[in-house]
Amino acid sequence: MTFKESLSYRYACKVFDENKKVQDGDFSEILEACRLSPSSFGLEHWDLLLVENEKIKKEMGKACWNQPQITTCSHLVVILAKLEDLKPNSPYIKSMVEKKVGKNSEKYPILLDIINNFLDKNFSNDDKKKYGWSKAQCFLAAQNMMSMAAVLGIDSCPIEGFIEEKLNEILDIDPNKNRVALLLTFGYRDNIQKPKPKIRKNLDEFFKIIK
Ligand SMILES: Cc1cc2nc3c(=O)[nH]c(=O)nc-3n(C[C@H](O)[C@H](O)[C@H](O)COP(=O)(O)O)c2cc1C
Repeated sequence: MTFKESLSYRYACKVFDENKKVQDGDFSEILEACRLSPSSFGLEHWDLLLVENEKIKKEMGKACWNQPQITTCSHLVVILAKLEDLKPNSPYIKSMVEKKVGKNSEKYPILLDIINNFLDKNFSNDDKKKYGWSKAQCFLAAQNMMSMAAVLGIDSCPIEGFIEEKLNEILDIDPNKNRVALLLTFGYRDNIQKPKPKIRKNLDEFFKIIK
């Protein structure tokens, strides 16, 4: 499947075939698409949880407006947006800068300073704003994961319809450290429900050239 074909193949799958499971090798490819995703300063703002426990999945379903994707999917991924790790000078920031340029490089203090200043200037004491920034990076990774899935003939649905406080309780998430950005469900479409034709605006409705 070409990338363009995969863009048409992908749709927001509402119910998955519960008898068809995504193979481990394919799921690894989906994770690799996340791993290779771009992010601001290369800080990889995401943490992922794969929920396999059926009882927890059922509880999560209720916290997600009873959307059937949660309980019928083969793989349920929770994307967490980092907050606490993105404090200036945090051990995480230092480790990421070290990974990029090496601890003993002369670039280390320069890059650390640039990132610390950016974080301080933009988000000091404003976790809501930081969540917006962090979540934006998570969405890029999420799209890459869904695109990779589509190329492999695997269906997906992003889920933003959730009650965050309930998910925090179920999954024991501390919202001062991480916030739920998005859930991703993967599996195979059942043959009963057909994807609807794509309804999209025409190019001239959203694209303009400034000369
Ligand atoms: C951030 C985000 C959150 C979404 N949340 C839900 C959701 O909770 N439930 C759902 O059924 N679809 C959800 N969708 C799917 C959209 O409704 C869908 O992508 C859109 O209507 C276009 O249809 P298509 O993806 O089938 O082309 C979400 C999509 C995005 C990008």
